[in-house]
Amino acid sequence: MFRNNYMNKFSYALVLTIIWSGGAYALDRELQRGRDLLETLCARCHAVGTTGRSRHPDAPPFRTFGEKIYDDQLGQRLQDGLTTIHPDMPTFVFKQRDAEAAMNYLQSIQQKKDSK
Ligand code: HEC
Repeated sequence: MFRNNYMNKFSYALVLTIIWSGGAYALDRELQRGRDLLETLCARCHAVGTTGRSRHPDAPPFRTFGEKIYDDQLGQRLQDGLTTIHPDMPTFVFKQRDAEAAMNYLQSIQQKKDSK
């Protein structure tokens, strides 16, 4: 009886651990996908990571977008076709899933306001 109970608790904890780490893993993969996308499409001009400079002198590093990232506008713009006034920047159209992955990644790398 004791052994049985112990095993039940043990497997319950094990299942929880697996679910939890599975979730974290899925999140990392999603962020990684967003990052890959942006690396492929944008890195020749923008700094995509948490350090480094943009290759294009006028392109802001993605980690400095700040507030802009948090209203949903940019995500929507990615799907509608992201253009800027800058002639150097081509128009990009993202599928919804890709836009979400990209936005999640962008949000994850934003610098805190005072450390700019
Ligand atoms: C060929 C160079 C180039 C590429 C590639 C490029 N950009 Fe840009 N981007 C720029 C430049 C230059 C600016 C700054 C001028 C401006 O604000 O229009 C800019 C500005 C921006 C801005 C801020 C301006 C705004 O309207 O909000 C965003 C957001 C942006 N880029 C996102 C992206 C994303 C996302 C990608 C990849 C899908 C990308 N860019 C790829 C050159 C580029």
